[in-house]
Amino acid sequence: MSDQSTLMGAKTTGSMTTQAFGPQNIHVSRIALGCMGLAGTWNPKDVGGENRKRAIASFEAALEAGITFYDHADIYGGTACESIFKDCLQAMPGSRDKIFIATKVGIRSGFYEHSPQYIRDSIQGSLDRMGLEYVDLYQLHRPDPLTHPAHSAQALDELVASGRVKAIGISNYYPQQTRALKKYLQAPIVSNQISISLLRLDPIYEGAAGGAGSVDSAGDGVLDQCLELGITPLAYSPVGGGWLSGRREVPADHPRREAIERIFEKMDEMRETYGGATNTQLSLAWLLAHPAQIIPLVGSNQPAHIREGAEAASLQMSRHDWYQLWVAARGERVP
Ligand SMILES: NC(=O)c1ccc[n+]([C@@H]2O[C@H](COP(=O)([O-])OP(=O)(O)OC[C@H]3O[C@@H](n4cnc5c(N)ncnc54)[C@H](OP(=O)(O)O)[C@@H]3O)[C@@H](O)[C@H]2O)c1
Repeated sequence: MSDQSTLMGAKTTGSMTTQAFGPQNIHVSRIALGCMGLAGTWNPKDVGGENRKRAIASFEAALEAGITFYDHADIYGGTACESIFKDCLQAMPGSRDKIFIATKVGIRSGFYEHSPQYIRDSIQGSLDRMGLEYVDLYQLHRPDPLTHPAHSAQALDELVASGRVKAIGISNYYPQQTRALKKYLQAPIVSNQISISLLRLDPIYEGAAGGAGSVDSAGDGVLDQCLELGITPLAYSPVGGGWLSGRREVPADHPRREAIERIFEKMDEMRETYGGATNTQLSLAWLLAHPAQIIPLVGSNQPAHIREGAEAASLQMSRHDWYQLWVAARGERVP
């Protein structure tokens, strides 16, 4: 991976654009593959030849589409996703050195744990399952109120010093939780993986959209903090868990049904401007337009869907259209 470009610059590899990530300016693809569904099951005992074949086909499609960023967690597939990724890497010799591999620690069965011992044990499990010497990014999956951040920070810094982890990220952290960890961690926090999409707008603002006096609900301020501290937001559920693809019938009682209909109506109006882009691609382009340089984690194990998601990296959404979709998603004009 290249470390030559400027921090905020984006460059193109084939049809996939890349962006600098973290203080070492490593370049990663602007679209990442979320590997939560890679094994096709949450029970490792169910993994068979078909699961492996499908995972390898997905990985191959992602590589060909220029995706260099792969997001895992120790718990995905009940550990099966990391294990099957080893098969993927072996099936594509030389691929490890060309890609950026992230995983996470901290969610256990019914509770969260960021204790130093658990972090040390979990990273070893992840490395062994994937057959790796190191991971490029190690993320705390969800804040654990019962571990002092100083203790997690010490364990994470040890992992960086040992070379088993190249960089530290967090996930589902609100700004004050990020500040508490940052106070004790020597390594920089390079990313915060959060749920953000046209169906989850909270990270865009802190306080009401439109400022004081607005009737809008309060946001959480995560993107502003990312801009302030140079943290890259990683967007999970960027296609709204699949609802924004337009390929899934939205049940009458779905809480966001009306918002989804308004969003699709606006997408139909702007589609031709973006060369006939699909709803999935417009949803991803909306995230990519934010100046915090959000990296959407597309969660698919269907090669055609992975290719479709990757193609969104070439779309540049206009300010006008970005606001049209934001207003449709909020169901309220900007004040
Ligand atoms: N940090 C956290 O707490 C957290 C939580 C959740 C997820 N994540 C990460 O984020 C990643 C993505 O999350 P997600 O799976 O919720 O994301 P998502 O991409 O919004 O939703 C995935 C769903 O959308 C469908 N989909 C994706 N592209 C499609 C397309 N072009 N056409 C039709 N359907 C499409 C997939 O079905 P098909 O497989 O059929 O394409 C799948 O059912 C995960 O893999 C994981 O890495 C992190």
